Amino acid sequence: MKISRLLNEATMMLKQAQIEDPAFEAGLILSWAVNKPRAFIYAHPEMELDPPEIRRFMELVERRSRGEPFQYITGECEFMSLRFKVNPGVLVPRSDTELLAEAALFSLGCDQPFIDPSLYRVSNQGIRRVLDIGTGSGCLAVSVARYAPYVTVDALDISEEALETARQNAELNSVSGAIRFIRADFLNDSGFTGCKYDLIISNPPYIPRDDKTGLMPAVEKYEPSQALFADDGGLIFYKRLARLSPEILAENGVILVECGFNQSAGVRDIFQGHGMETMSLKDLSGTERVIAARMRV
Ligand SMILES: C[S@@+](CC[C@H](N)C(=O)[O-])C[C@H]1O[C@@H](n2cnc3c(N)ncnc32)[C@H](O)[C@@H]1O
Repeated sequence: MKISRLLNEATMMLKQAQIEDPAFEAGLILSWAVNKPRAFIYAHPEMELDPPEIRRFMELVERRSRGEPFQYITGECEFMSLRFKVNPGVLVPRSDTELLAEAALFSLGCDQPFIDPSLYRVSNQGIRRVLDIGTGSGCLAVSVARYAPYVTVDALDISEEALETARQNAELNSVSGAIRFIRADFLNDSGFTGCKYDLIISNPPYIPRDDKTGLMPAVEKYEPSQALFADDGGLIFYKRLARLSPEILAENGVILVECGFNQSAGVRDIFQGHGMETMSLKDLSGTERVIAARMRV
């Protein structure tokens, strides 16, 4: 069967399954299945594929049509222009979360042209200690270790499977030496590192466990629920972090957290209630997505 016909059939299947941009995804999947760049595929519509290649492609299209994220099918994704391995034990890093990564780099003194220049910066003396709570694939910890000079990062997660993936991603991006991996339950354990941090970053689970309105069914079906849902209207991690900050945040330290589209006021209130000043950063769609907090001086 010719490439053009395969692409048409796959596009129809993906469209019926209500996958956004079905023609683009059909090209991506075919490129993955035959291990050739997308440009090659579009440049050779008349090329015939052999039956094993066709079978492999159609199997992948079926998986995608059932809603499985493309990144779980291929086992990898890109974040902050770096390659990351992913699997169903970790959340697929979202492009929205790049705002948090860029904010962290700005706070650590790196140039970030799209970040509000009034965002709080940490002290620029010596090695800066960073804590990433709920590291998952390690996308934030690895990006910070890769792009910011003079940092050591503690990457914490409750899931051993996630930590193993994060370790592999640190190796893949040549930053294993800068990251310590810690298995701990942030909500219940205490004294998990015994350090104070200049920068604490977190994209915690924040979807309210009792209100899943607007959540795409495929997300709930395929991604780890431990990475998605949180108690207390989705705010429990922010409350715990605010309570723990006198213990784990260094003097002049900064906290940066991602939150859900309608949570920014609630998250700011939590940190302000613990004597902190806060500000928010908007994502590309204008939603307040990252909250910054530091002790009032
Ligand atoms: C929303 S995911 C974020 C993953 C990654 N940092 C990212 O931005 O793509 C939240 C992570 O928090 C972890 N997590 C959930 N409950 C936790 C807890 N009580 N203590 C520590 N980590 C927890 C999950 O395993 C998951 O990896």
